[in-house]
Amino acid sequence: MLTSPHRFLFCILLMSTFLSCKQEVVTKVETHQVEAHRPMYHFTPDSMWMNDPNGLVYYEGEYHLFYQYYPDSTVWGPMHWGHAVSKDMIDWQDLPIALYPDSIGYIFSGSAVIDWKNTSGFGSNGQPPMIAIYTYHNMDAEKAGSMYVQSQGIAYSNDKGRTWTKYKANPVINSPGIKDFRDPKVIWHEAGKHWVMVLAARDKVKFYTSPDLKSWTFASDFGIEKDPRLWECPDLFAMKVEGSDETKWILITSMQTGAPNGGTGTSYWVGDFDGKKFKCDDAKGTQKWLDDGKDNYAFVTWSDMPGRVGIGWMSNWQYAQKVPSQKWRSAMTLPRTLHLWKTHIDYVIATMPVTELKNLYGQDVSIPSATINKNQILPVNTSTYKLSLNFKKSDSNVHIVCYNDHMDSLVLGYDAKAKKYFIDRSHTGIADFSEDFAGKHYCSNTYNSDTIQLDIFIDHASVELFAEKGKCAMTDVFFTKHPLDKAKVVSTGNNALLLGGTFTPIGAISKRK
Ligand code: FRU
Repeated sequence: MLTSPHRFLFCILLMSTFLSCKQEVVTKVETHQVEAHRPMYHFTPDSMWMNDPNGLVYYEGEYHLFYQYYPDSTVWGPMHWGHAVSKDMIDWQDLPIALYPDSIGYIFSGSAVIDWKNTSGFGSNGQPPMIAIYTYHNMDAEKAGSMYVQSQGIAYSNDKGRTWTKYKANPVINSPGIKDFRDPKVIWHEAGKHWVMVLAARDKVKFYTSPDLKSWTFASDFGIEKDPRLWECPDLFAMKVEGSDETKWILITSMQTGAPNGGTGTSYWVGDFDGKKFKCDDAKGTQKWLDDGKDNYAFVTWSDMPGRVGIGWMSNWQYAQKVPSQKWRSAMTLPRTLHLWKTHIDYVIATMPVTELKNLYGQDVSIPSATINKNQILPVNTSTYKLSLNFKKSDSNVHIVCYNDHMDSLVLGYDAKAKKYFIDRSHTGIADFSEDFAGKHYCSNTYNSDTIQLDIFIDHASVELFAEKGKCAMTDVFFTKHPLDKAKVVSTGNNALLLGGTFTPIGAISKRK
């Protein structure tokens, strides 16, 4: 037990440790704000409306990011595929629009593959073609009240995605009379030696197979009959279970309603896939959430690259079209690596930002261990950064408060009573554009570990929280009037024990410098 004078000395010692940490910061990363709410290290279109990531594919050293784009407005409209490329999934170069609406319809979400064996015959000069598979949405049919609104089309490119030719016999799959019939994700199934397409059909997904990407045969359904929720943007892939030789199949589905904290969110199912049918491990088909925050929708993964990496649209349809950015709307999440773990009950996917983000890191400042007596200022001196902190789990709440001198504050951390991680954006500033925006958001699960492990990524308009080494991920956007350039730990309850941590400034991608 420390007596009062001892406590005083102890505090002085701690404060001087932090002060000396501050002096060590030689490379303060300059993160100026050119436009209000413009992220410094997340992908945003320079202007106008963006939603889902599409056609994620890796080819000849380039990661491609296509995305739902409406070039004439900052709200949703006739959909195109916007396009950007990157060598590291962080620093993106914008390219011209890849796909425009045509007489069959708008170009909705979909995927892209490299047709290595030239099964489609669209290759040229011995080079495999890049093939985009997307949904056509026919607005006239929708307006006429028809159920035959959505069909699937393909297009190919022979110059690394720079120019595209639509297949002359489109659509390759006609509407079966289900109004919501969209977002095809295509993979090559090596064992079956055929292509597999999974697409969302109202309250389920449908699987199709093809030898050549042009003719498709229905294979099976997976879903919950009469699920009131709309399913969108599926993904399908095999994953090795960490630390074993076991392989499981993952089916991702984005849900238009009923996400853990309301509105839209990305979920997944673990099971097996034989090339035609997906069988979920649990008879009841337990659905899990890839991210428990409000703002990670339509998360899908890259094709034709080693490992499993994906990216999501950092918004929620509840308010996406009303958020207060001016020139553009929406950003993507950080690209994230996926790992599959087996727990004593089931399987769980952990996600973490790709290590390539390190290209933007400034100098680390280490944060020493300390007992937090109510309040502890952290050595944060910029508004775009990573904070990694470990605490001993106890009955103390641990709140990380990111704030500025203008009364904006974002709180995140661990609620000891609920045993849950949370993000509270109730006091982050502009929130009056939607009643679904302000609020405290909890993760779905509790974890039995002894420590609270937080990896926090703050950009000008978003927070991504990874706890328990990414087994809990939460993404929330926010709209402060000024950047959040200060941070502290606040502990309520008994003293919380900070075991240590690191503050790392994160710089801007090339085009935001
Ligand atoms: C998901 C979604 C997709 C659709 C696209 C249209 O956000 O509704 O299902 O293809 O957006 O922009």
